[in-house]
Amino acid sequence: MPRLTVLLASAVALSFAGVAAAEDAAMLEKGKTVFESAKPACKMCHNEKKNSLDNYGAAGSVEEVKAWVRTPKEQFAKTGKKGMMPTFAASKISDEDLDALAAYLVSLKK
Ligand code: HEC
Repeated sequence: MPRLTVLLASAVALSFAGVAAAEDAAMLEKGKTVFESAKPACKMCHNEKKNSLDNYGAAGSVEEVKAWVRTPKEQFAKTGKKGMMPTFAASKISDEDLDALAAYLVSLKK
């Protein structure tokens, strides 16, 4: 009987892992869409030529992405970076979309 319990427990654990992986993939896909459809376009300023975010996941965090999107002025002041980035309020990118966007950017690693 104990063996059956172990088997059942691992089957349950495996199916949870499967569901979690599928949810993660869906979230990253959604985040990519948010990145590509936000207006003004993130890609206008973040592309292969300048300020690329292709390797953002190497050092960036979800909290930092949220701070940049919601309060860019504060982030420029805090980091000493130069330039201009528009503020994307919740009316432009909802909290839920921002979660997905941040997860997507943090997943980017070269
Ligand atoms: C008008 C130009 C512009 C637009 C549009 C813009 N950004 Fe930015 N963003 C900047 C600049 C300039 C910086 C500072 C870059 C630097 O010096 O590394 C920055 C910084 C960032 C950073 C921090 C990068 C780092 O290396 O720490 C993130 C994350 C970011 N932007 C995300 C976004 C997202 C997501 C969007 C779209 C929703 C967006 N930005 C739209 C100009 C822009």
